[in-house]
Formats: sequence, structure tokens, C-alpha cells
Amino acid sequence: MWLLRSPARLLVLLAAAWIVHASAQLTDAPLRLPGRPAPQSGVTAAAGASQAEERAGYFGIPGTQRRLFYWFFQARSPSSGAPLASAPLLIWLQGGPGCSSLFGVFFEHGPWGLNATLGLVPNPHTWAAAANLLYIDQPIGTGLSYSRDASDKSASQLDVAKTLAAFLQAFYKAPQYGFLARSNLILAGESFAGHYLPATAAHIKANVPALPLAGVLMVAPFTNAPAMYESYARWALQRDLIPSALFKSVQSALAACKLQSALCNTVDPAACEPASQTCEYLVWSALVRGTGSQLAARNLYNVRDTGCSACYAYLDQRLEAYVAANRQRLGVPHKVGYSACADPPYMALWGDMTRSYDDLLGALLDNDVNVMVVSGDDDFVCNSLGTTRWVDALIWSRQAGWASVKPASWNGGTFRRLGPLAFVRVNRAGHMVPMDQPALSLQLLQQWLATGQPAAKKRP
Ligand SMILES: *[C@@H]1O[C@H](CO)[C@@H](O)[C@H](O)[C@H]1NC(C)=O
Repeated sequence: MWLLRSPARLLVLLAAAWIVHASAQLTDAPLRLPGRPAPQSGVTAAAGASQAEERAGYFGIPGTQRRLFYWFFQARSPSSGAPLASAPLLIWLQGGPGCSSLFGVFFEHGPWGLNATLGLVPNPHTWAAAANLLYIDQPIGTGLSYSRDASDKSASQLDVAKTLAAFLQAFYKAPQYGFLARSNLILAGESFAGHYLPATAAHIKANVPALPLAGVLMVAPFTNAPAMYESYARWALQRDLIPSALFKSVQSALAACKLQSALCNTVDPAACEPASQTCEYLVWSALVRGTGSQLAARNLYNVRDTGCSACYAYLDQRLEAYVAANRQRLGVPHKVGYSACADPPYMALWGDMTRSYDDLLGALLDNDVNVMVVSGDDDFVCNSLGTTRWVDALIWSRQAGWASVKPASWNGGTFRRLGPLAFVRVNRAGHMVPMDQPALSLQLLQQWLATGQPAAKKRP
């Protein structure tokens, strides 16, 4: 009762009860960011714009010192601004490991982008037109997520999966998100999220049947390391970015990388870290920095960009400057640091890099989970050659049928689809497909949610 002794305290408590919804483990509040552009034209409060929520906050993971940062945007109609009652809940996980999901918010599919002077610019192709968006900074140490125990880290996909499953269960139960009761769950993410997504989806399917998991959307996924490392040299050669002498010179290191990865994935977890060393330094670095390679002067995430090596450094700088200026509004405790891509989570999952998670996808496909894999044709890092290789090798009940599915065209490139599996290639897009092709990406999401595939191109 001592809390109520001071009237000032009481006032603070009442104010807190009014603006902050704290369920058992979720603490969040509506966001009112300065410069937040007004809703699109024609929207009035009466049309429901005022009910459409944007909230940010933290989930305290039970039994730990960990607090996971998230940012939520309610789905709403772009024309009326009214909430979309039956839209799914799509969670977005950035890759890295260790990169903040604010990349997704500001540069891919959030309601607004962030320009060079840190102004917010409305994004006419936001995915909030199709889904409720929940951006999560994870694993712990990533973005604005932290642990009060500084030595704490997530060093396995099981840890990642259990943490996310616990968060999502609390999220669906929280009173402030009661309107999501009938919303299916879509797990989405990019790049190294190609590890998080299958691991988390498989964990949810097996252990948390209460969560309405309906689909997994993998953008530029890094899922099967051997397939990816094998493709680097061949893809670069095909695109004329390395000389054939360099292609030949990495072949023995590639064989070692594949052998060690195979050991890591089958009998010997102790082989994982050495495998990551071999694959990263003797294959990847050798290709990027080898004699005659043009890769070092390209944007490896989109090889059409030339003349820079850290071509996306400006994205990191914008995020870091924006967070520094708005941390209080985002509810971030003052001791918590922020870097767009943090090293500790990367180091903690270094050995996990060469582990493969595609074997978990087959069982998901055979259990009515829709999986869409999206690959940008100009991405070297998770190129479509390596991605095609592991998608074709997925073991599931319709693997034989999949082999004979021919690519069909859609507006943005080609796609293959059989039942719950879709594999989409996007022309003129690199790693961050929604950044490079925003309109097509939204269209793709909408069509996948509606029909499970992109709309085939109309014949003239
Ligand atoms: C960034 O956006 C803000 C707000 O819309 C605008 O005032 C500013 O001029 C923009 N800056 C640039 C460099 O475009």
C-alpha cells in the first residue's frame, strides 16, 4: 500500500494506467512520433483512423533478465484508414544475426520511410495495407532488445524459437491486442532469419498449437549454408564478376567447407565453428577479395550498385541517428545502447551459420503451413542459384511433383508453386526485395495471402 501514500505517485499511476497497457509481461504504449505524417488523404477520425494503433514496447521474458523490443502497426485500409478486421498478424525478423528490425520498419515495409534528414516519409506500399505488422528486435542484444545480465546471449535456434513462441503467446493474450483474436500468424523475415523462421515455425507447430500459424515468408533466406557457399563462386562467374582462375582456386576450400558443414549438420556439433571459419574466410572472403574479383567494389546485396563496398552504411547511420533522437519516445531505458547491426548476437551464433534448417520446412509443408521463398535476382549474398538448389532439394510429400513445376511469369519475375510451396524470383531486386521493389512486394504479399501465389501475367 505504500505506493499510494504519495498523491504524486497516485497521479503517475493513473496516468500510466491510461496510456500504458501493461499485461502480465508486455509493457507498451501508443506512439506519437514527431513529424509522423498525417494519415493518407480522405482519412478522418470517424473513418477509424484514430483507432488504428501504433505501439512500441518491451516483452519481459519470464524467468530471465531479458527484455525484447517490439513495434506494432495495425493493418488498415489505405483508402479509408479503417482497421482491417480479418488481416493476419505478420511478424518481421531482420537477419544478421544481430541486425535490428527497424531496417524493416523504415526501409522496407513500415508505414513510413526515413529520409536523409531523418524526416518521416509516407510509404504508399506499406505492408500494413495487408497485415498487422509486428517488428521484433531479436535475439537478445539485437537493436533495442537487451538483458539486464550483460553476459546473457542467445546461442541456439532453440533458444530463439522458445523466446519468440513465449512472446507471441503473451501477445495474443494481451488485452490491448484483443482485436487480433481471429488473425492468423505469419512468420516473416529476411536473410539470417532463414534460420530463425523454420526453427520457430517447427517449434510452434510441435509445441504451441494454440498459436494460429498459417504461413512462413522467407525473403532472401540464408537457410542451407552448403548450398549457399557452393553457389557463390558459380553465381559470380555466371555474372562475370570473377575470373575463371579465381573460380578454380576456391574449389578445394569449398570442398572443405561442404565437408565440415556436413559434419556440423549430422554427427559433430563441434565441427560447426571450424566450418563457419572455413566457409567464411576461405570461400567467401577469397571470392570477394581474390585477384581479379570485382565483388569488392560492388554492393554484395545488390550487385547493380557499383563503386562502393559498404554501400548500405548510410542505412545504419540513419537508424542510429533516429534512435538516438527518439529513444525516450520509443520507451528505451537510458542505459540501453543501439547499433543497427550488433556484434554480440552475431558472435554468439557464429557456429550456427553453417547449420542448415531447410530440413524443418518439409514437415511444415506437409502440415498445412504455406511457405513462400522470395529471391532477388541481383543479390549475391543469398543468391537465387543457391536458393533454388535447396528449395528443389526439400524433402516433402510432393518433392517429385515439385521437380516438374516450370517457372511461370508474373509482373515482377517468375514463380513456381505447388500446393503450399511457392518460390518467387524478383527481377531488378537485391537482398532487400521490399526496399528495391516496394510496389511489387506488397502485391506479392497480398496475392500470396489471398491465393497462395502471385497472379500469373496476363497474356497480351
Ligand atoms: C525529409 O522529410 C521531411 C519531412 O517530410 C522533409 O521536411 C525534408 O525536407 C525531407 N528531407 C529531404 C532531404 O528530402
